[in-house]
Amino acid sequence: RIMKPCNEAVPGYLPGSDEKRGLKVRLAELKQSPMEIPLIIGGKEVRSGKTGKCIIPHNHAHVLATYHMAGEAETRMAVQAALDAGKAWAETPWDHRLAVFLRAAEMIRGPWRHTLNAATMLGQSKTVYEADADAACELMDFFRYNSYFFRQIIEEQPECLQGILNRMEYRPLEGFVFAVTPFNFTAIGGNLPGTPAMAGNTVVWKPASTAVYSNYHVMKLLQAAGLPDGVINFIPGPGSAVGPLVMSHSMLAGIHFTGSTAVFQGMWRTVAQNLAHYNGYPRIVGETGGKNFVFAHPSADIETLVPALIGGAFSYQGQKCSATSRVYIPKSIWPAVKTRLTAGIDGIKTGDVEDFTHYMGAVIDRNAFDNISGYIRFAREADDAEIIAGGECDDSIGFFITPTVIVTTDPKFKTMQEEIFGPVMTVFVYPDDDIEKALTLCATTSKYALTGALFARDRAAVVEMERRLCYSAGNLYINDKTTGAFVGLQPFGGARASGTNDKAGSRHNVMRWLSPRTIKENF
Ligand code: SER
Repeated sequence: RIMKPCNEAVPGYLPGSDEKRGLKVRLAELKQSPMEIPLIIGGKEVRSGKTGKCIIPHNHAHVLATYHMAGEAETRMAVQAALDAGKAWAETPWDHRLAVFLRAAEMIRGPWRHTLNAATMLGQSKTVYEADADAACELMDFFRYNSYFFRQIIEEQPECLQGILNRMEYRPLEGFVFAVTPFNFTAIGGNLPGTPAMAGNTVVWKPASTAVYSNYHVMKLLQAAGLPDGVINFIPGPGSAVGPLVMSHSMLAGIHFTGSTAVFQGMWRTVAQNLAHYNGYPRIVGETGGKNFVFAHPSADIETLVPALIGGAFSYQGQKCSATSRVYIPKSIWPAVKTRLTAGIDGIKTGDVEDFTHYMGAVIDRNAFDNISGYIRFAREADDAEIIAGGECDDSIGFFITPTVIVTTDPKFKTMQEEIFGPVMTVFVYPDDDIEKALTLCATTSKYALTGALFARDRAAVVEMERRLCYSAGNLYINDKTTGAFVGLQPFGGARASGTNDKAGSRHNVMRWLSPRTIKENF
């Protein structure tokens, strides 16, 4: 019997603790001198000579690294390296493939934990808790759970009648997989190339330019854990140059993507254009944006609701695809919610995450800062909206934006509809006697359907709200925040404009990277 893994827990990082001391040393080491990050193709370091910079978002003058970007030649090399490594990796017994990733998970328990956390704190401006929950815990969970799911799948075999042996052979896809990963989770950086690779596929991995720093360390971890050359090929670079080239190859077997809706739609178009000369139908697995709701019923427990609003909207500066961003509150409880919410926000410290006392760091880069502050400006100038907390934007040292709450009288207000990807929550206060209409608004205001949360003590209300919002979220939380799904426990993903809902951290996702062969033998 296969043992189910346990989800890894974040250590305390209390003052004077070993883990805090060790992490501080690693932070100082990484900051000391800028490093040079090569591409890794076929296991070898490749320098294109065309470079970009990794900076610290909360101290943007500080350059952490110079990284080489893939151009046309390096992109072609990476695809070829993946194809060359394909046969040997597919023929490697599956338990030996899983062993590489299980070993990587165990290595994160050692000094690698500090390296991945420090790289994530510096390069992506995560607090220590957000960094550890991501780059250490979630990454370990992905490797362990997906190994567990893979073993479960392998053991699923059809019935054999007398004189007949029926078998399922779980082959990798034929060709290579293209993994394109986002800046906001280092663990997604490891999971999107990692899961197809566990299943025996070889991968071309293009990390987000704003997460190259931590993602390079993930790549080095996998190499140190014994990943054979060419199984995962690490090629940072401009998506507009790398993407179309990789996706026009006839042996493209799959795409594993997390990022923006616009980029994902562009990928579908590129695939459509190339359909005639592909070897097969590429599997397209993607998770994109969200406009995640919290819907409170008049029976909601305010003491539960308010911390969930704060945690869901503002942890990691609201830069989670699962972040709470539109909120429906009944008029009867709004005064009490407002008082507690603004008091809670007053207690939030935004600043340099390296001093271990701030709850929020900086947003990822100049583009994000300009985009988010643009929405705040729009709300400030609008007649039908009011900013009741935060709204301060300061990019003099880092890209800082304080936790912001907008209250609007227009349920279709721009910030109720568009994904902002920053620490901005918009509240619509609805009349208690018109829950029906408010539910309809909640169900119809957004094209996304990633996460959502219902707050109510009244069981019948929960049943009704759950039913009414059936297709509004792929992950629905009851009396809990919209963020923080645990691998294996709350399989993650949404439909509509939010993605293909192939549930990261579940056997459904693992299955997408396998192409089973059914074999019948007569005796
Ligand atoms: N899985 C993350 C969460 O649940 C988002 O990617 O918050």
